[in-house]
Amino acid sequence: MSIAERVNKINPSFTLQMATKAAEMRSKGIDVINFSVGEPDFNTPKHIRDAAKKALDQGYTKYTAGPGMIELREAICEKLNRENKISYDPSDILVSNGEKQSLYNACQAIFNPSDSVIVFSPYWVSFPEFVKMADAEPVLVNTLPESNFEPDFEDLDAKIDSSIKGVIINSPSNPTGGVWRNDAIVKLLKLAKKHGWVVISDECYERLVYDGAFTSAEKLNQTHDIGATVLTCMSLSKTYAMTGWRIGYSAGPKDIIKAMSKIQGQATSCANSIGQKASIEALIGDQTCVEDMKSLFLKRRDLIVELLNDLPGVKCANPKGAFYVFPDFSSYLNQKVNGKLLKDTFDISEYILDSVKVVTVPGDGFGARGHIRFSYATNRKIIQEGMNRVKKALEMI
Ligand SMILES: Cc1ncc(COP(=O)(O)O)c(C=O)c1O
Repeated sequence: MSIAERVNKINPSFTLQMATKAAEMRSKGIDVINFSVGEPDFNTPKHIRDAAKKALDQGYTKYTAGPGMIELREAICEKLNRENKISYDPSDILVSNGEKQSLYNACQAIFNPSDSVIVFSPYWVSFPEFVKMADAEPVLVNTLPESNFEPDFEDLDAKIDSSIKGVIINSPSNPTGGVWRNDAIVKLLKLAKKHGWVVISDECYERLVYDGAFTSAEKLNQTHDIGATVLTCMSLSKTYAMTGWRIGYSAGPKDIIKAMSKIQGQATSCANSIGQKASIEALIGDQTCVEDMKSLFLKRRDLIVELLNDLPGVKCANPKGAFYVFPDFSSYLNQKVNGKLLKDTFDISEYILDSVKVVTVPGDGFGARGHIRFSYATNRKIIQEGMNRVKKALEMI
């Protein structure tokens, strides 16, 4: 059986692989601590679950309109207006099976073979793959770890050419937790306008910003009268602890949304009906749950940053958003342990897993040499125990 060429071009999601590895170890009875999780550890809030139960009983069990139920698209517009101060019409919105599908649709709808797309490194693992699945080329641009992982504009300038058609931004960021200052986003939007790039702004961690306010790229685009083409992609997954419900959405220019809808219509028809009904409640119902989860995440962030900075040879900045920290373990690169050379963070993460049964995600997989991603979407006791174990592992090097 011969498999299509395009499959060979893309990499599997290695963050999912790490999560699978942790689950396998646990199923064998191994007491493993998992810092690789990319989802809140909380259950979906009760009022949202209740809305889903009610929808089931009321018979919302059928296909919906392809771009999403009109009531949900209206609720999304209300939320974008209320939270992000940007106004859209329901016809500017496409609801998808998680924001992952929104981003996939966007790349399929916007890019042609031979186009290039800027992706900032460290990047969320799926960005370069979405670009490659559209037969376009990701162009990796450095960021500055000392400045919230904002773009290194010198590196960007050096890489600009006429093949670039778009840029993907993600603030707050997975994997770094970095939140870009508005100035950096404005500078990028101006470049996008000048060169005619489409900006795809992945804002799935918008509600998890701990120090200062979050501003959507499209809001900055409007406030500064820049006129860049911005597609905003958002998700219910992280904000409302709804990863399994698979609801995300895009808001942007009608022609792009229409093209994305056409692709989605042939691929998956629509997002699931019960999830859509639950999402209406999530977006326009009581928002206290969001603030409650955020304040717990903030306490955990402060704890994990403190414990990481206590580890010998490890430096950890205080990220302003999401639920990831991205400490620098480069002082361990090229050291030997049990006769094995630690040549990259894949080796360091593997050593930590084998020696003390703690799962982390090597930064090399996100294009960041020397860094390791830890998710703090887990409780304080586990954070404390996990860090004790990592300390033991490092002391043995
Ligand atoms: C940066 C980023 N974008 C998008 C997503 C996709 O979210 P979902 O498909 O669950 O809406 C994730 C999930 O981990 C993410 O980290």
